[in-house]
Amino acid sequence: MDRPEWAPPGIDVERPSAARLYDYFLGGSHNFAADRAMAQQLLATAPDIPLIAQANRAFLRRAVQMLAESGIRQFLDIGSGIPTLGNVHEVAREVVPDARVVYVDLDPVAVAHSSVLIRGQEGVAAIQGDVRKPGDILHHETVRNLIDFTEPVALLVIALLQFVRDEDDPAGIMAQLRGALPSGSYLALSHGVVDGWRHDKEMVKNLYSRTTTPPASRTRADVAPFFGDFELVDPGLVWVTQWRPDQPSKIDGIKAAKSAVVAGVGRKP
Ligand SMILES: C[S@@+](CC[C@H](N)C(=O)[O-])C[C@H]1O[C@@H](n2cnc3c(N)ncnc32)[C@H](O)[C@@H]1O
Repeated sequence: MDRPEWAPPGIDVERPSAARLYDYFLGGSHNFAADRAMAQQLLATAPDIPLIAQANRAFLRRAVQMLAESGIRQFLDIGSGIPTLGNVHEVAREVVPDARVVYVDLDPVAVAHSSVLIRGQEGVAAIQGDVRKPGDILHHETVRNLIDFTEPVALLVIALLQFVRDEDDPAGIMAQLRGALPSGSYLALSHGVVDGWRHDKEMVKNLYSRTTTPPASRTRADVAPFFGDFELVDPGLVWVTQWRPDQPSKIDGIKAAKSAVVAGVGRKP
């Protein structure tokens, strides 16, 4: 199996990862042969995945834009992924030039490439972290240095929780993360669900089960409680293409439910 020079030391290049599959679906090149082979199998069964990934990415952009326009100056992006077009600090800084952003991801390739992208930029950092250990993230020195938890924070949990299984207590994790934020903070969250999925669910689940972060199967109804007592802003928790769509694109051709991803933004009272 090939091992590109940029592969972080110690990483198992033969085991696909959600971050690198997503990078591949978005047209990126930070993936290994094992990721590409699995991506081809996934595409054979679910050819819409790249459009779904783009639709999710477009939600991230719209949500960050809206949050920055609402006055949010600091963003904690957990499960941030491998950098691609429209990264959070770039989108936020178009509105708030000194917005502070911490990227957190489990995947060493995501952390390494994020670190390269933001090198030399003040107020932006990338750390390795596991959302299943929220206390470690919240108390991480870099997070404490950049994020002021006495001022409103935007917590981004975008297309992450479908990789956190019920036995890892995603409800408890989210309660801990929400609890660390002051009033006026926001949670932007999207989640892949099985309701709208018209492809072979079992096949996709089986393939993703061979990655470093095996998936959880959740429905739209399972996702709403992750917002706790945060008040959903308009239009609520909806299919990802329906959350404040702003510009026509080929993604609009996807029927909303076919996106298989729900998304929403909630504000802490
Ligand atoms: C589908 S990608 C989403 C990337 C980005 N948030 C976006 O929506 O464009 C999911 C990301 O979650 C990361 N991830 C999976 N499990 C994680 C965990 N336990 N802790 C932190 N990140 C995790 C993966 O490495 C991957 O980068």
